[in-house]
Amino acid sequence: MRTITTVTELRHALALQREQGKSIGFVPTMGALHEGHLSLVRMSKQHTDVTVVSIFVNPTQFGPSEDFEKYPRTMEADASLLVEEEVEFLFAPSVQQIYPAAHDTRIHLDAITNLYEGARRPGHFDGVATVVSILFNIVQPQAGYFGQKDAQQLAVIRKLVADLAFPIEIIAGSTIREKDGLALSSRNRYLNADDRKEAVALSKTLFFMRDSLRDRQDVASAKAAGTHEFHRIAPNGLLDYLDIVNSETFQPISSFESTGLCTIIIAANIGATRLIDNIPI
Ligand code: PAJ
Repeated sequence: MRTITTVTELRHALALQREQGKSIGFVPTMGALHEGHLSLVRMSKQHTDVTVVSIFVNPTQFGPSEDFEKYPRTMEADASLLVEEEVEFLFAPSVQQIYPAAHDTRIHLDAITNLYEGARRPGHFDGVATVVSILFNIVQPQAGYFGQKDAQQLAVIRKLVADLAFPIEIIAGSTIREKDGLALSSRNRYLNADDRKEAVALSKTLFFMRDSLRDRQDVASAKAAGTHEFHRIAPNGLLDYLDIVNSETFQPISSFESTGLCTIIIAANIGATRLIDNIPI
């Protein structure tokens, strides 16, 4: 694996790959890598000739009161995991490389960024859309790999690629979970032992709702039953939202008539940690 820290060097290295007719797969990350990230890496390795993984803790997607400073940075361990996966290129740029001093452009998506994670974290998705656009322009991959774990981010990226005509196929990897159902996340390491027990409430609530919806329950009563289930498992947890949305637009749905694909989404505070999860239905 070759580790590259500058835009110029990466562009040059990838131009050589392209000249040899190699296809490029791209997995953007913020590091603190776990099996969720690695599942995306394996998909890229399977589909394309050359895989580029980026590790960049992107300051523009963190709010002022969020955890940018204390976000886990584990570059050495991450690099050895990527070597084991036989990744060709690790791109680990400085903030200066991605946002030179005079950087003044933001990508803003309207409707979808006003909802749920967008509403709770103002500017978050603009930061994500901006950095992903910059990275897409630097790497110019055939395919970009994103996790279903961050379902709204995935919808934002699909919309960004469609609206700005990026010639990149977006491929989603399913959510990788612990044995008890908790979705893997770099933020799980913030959970103490008591939190960890209650954190399972997010996935358990999603599975419970999916199963109860099989009995053709209406949306409102499914949500009420799901909310009850969450509080039963996590009496100290703070449920932020639990909803059923259109998977593409993230608009809430009120009935199952005439809707496309749907996703059940949940966010909650467990101790001091905010967790999100979802399942497509
Ligand atoms: P990060 O949180 O590091 O996640 C990188 C990718 O891994 C994302 O596509 C995310 O959805 C995926 N991922 C995380 N947990 C997963 C799990 N349990 N199963 C499957 N995939 C999982 O998401 C970001 O970084 C950033 O916002 C980024 C897109 C890199 C832009 O800065």
